[in-house]
Amino acid sequence: MKNHGSSMIKVKKRKILLLPGDGIGPEVISEVKKIINWFNDKRSLDFEIDEDLAGGCSYDKHGTPITDEVFYKALESAVIMLGAVGGPKWDGVEFSKKPERALLKLRKELKLFANLRPAICFKQLVDASTLKPEIVSGLDIMIVRELTGGIYFGEPRGIKPIENGERKGINTHIYTSSEIIRVARIAFDLAKKRSNKVTSCEKSNVMEAGQLWKEEVQSLHDKEYKDVELKHMLADNCSMQLLRNPKQFDVIVTDNLFGDMLSDQASMLTGSLGLLPSASLGAKNKDGEMRAMYEPIHGSAPDIAGKGIANPIASILSFAMALRYSLELDKEADTLEKAVQIVLNEGLRTKDILSKGAKEVSTSEMGDAIISKLQ
Ligand code: IPM
Ligand code: MG
Repeated sequence: MKNHGSSMIKVKKRKILLLPGDGIGPEVISEVKKIINWFNDKRSLDFEIDEDLAGGCSYDKHGTPITDEVFYKALESAVIMLGAVGGPKWDGVEFSKKPERALLKLRKELKLFANLRPAICFKQLVDASTLKPEIVSGLDIMIVRELTGGIYFGEPRGIKPIENGERKGINTHIYTSSEIIRVARIAFDLAKKRSNKVTSCEKSNVMEAGQLWKEEVQSLHDKEYKDVELKHMLADNCSMQLLRNPKQFDVIVTDNLFGDMLSDQASMLTGSLGLLPSASLGAKNKDGEMRAMYEPIHGSAPDIAGKGIANPIASILSFAMALRYSLELDKEADTLEKAVQIVLNEGLRTKDILSKGAKEVSTSEMGDAIISKLQ
């Protein structure tokens, strides 16, 4: 991957880049846009919005999942709001041009190493979980997934011919001390503002990189975070514990691949994929600026795209995370999160979380209802 000199381009404090992407992405991001405009109009916040293509839609138009022009826009944005990328339409596309490469390039080259994925069971939706209510009610886990290292990006990689007409597929799992320490630090800092507990997951029983992970997390803890409770857990055990007793967890910190899987699993405990936001954060530079991308946990859901039934709440809550983590607008984040709660309390539901007695609303009706509660 080419380095585009990300450290040389200045971040514009108020610039928000919308990359709606594919499938239901455009529908849910258009609700976020309404909310940003509401904050601009009613709260005189001077957000500068730009919008462009990334993912399959960019491939269709430009033959590449993300153009250099869009990539540079991303570099100078304080906040990127991504919808979703990919879908079966692009299954046959060559690996390096797949829609997902846009996402991976943004993560890697913007150095967004810390992926925060909350799994919260909303009390209004306890019954939507496949687990018993007493197991999930009140659930509030934060998964911190390392996002720019490990097997997702390690070299060598590829598919190579070997003897006898066979081929071999190669990927490499690598972590350096500093990659482990910087993400562990995020997890410890978050835990301090929550229930003060970190569970670090790896496979130190099988992988050297897992052994290093465990040692570095422990030594950072002993040096700087003695007051935070730290537990190490093998990733397979963590997967089992998430189903057995998920409320034992507060913050989970883990590598890129385990984080991908454990966060999907944790999100399903809540029963409502359509509600869960995420943040991918970079490091702060010496001026305190940080690049960041926010996106709903759910994917592009091509089967329901264009029908106006997608749930915009995960994207809207992702924007609340942007207000909190990138824009230093905690009060506005609270207001937005509260508006979502009120609308859920009033029984408005998009199709994915519809239950008996609730009122079904479309994507844009849900967005409008949330805006109406912002006042
Ligand atoms: C996620 C997704 C991505 C990942 C895909 C779309 C590349 O599953 O954000 O969890 O594997 O990281
Ligand atoms: Mg995933």
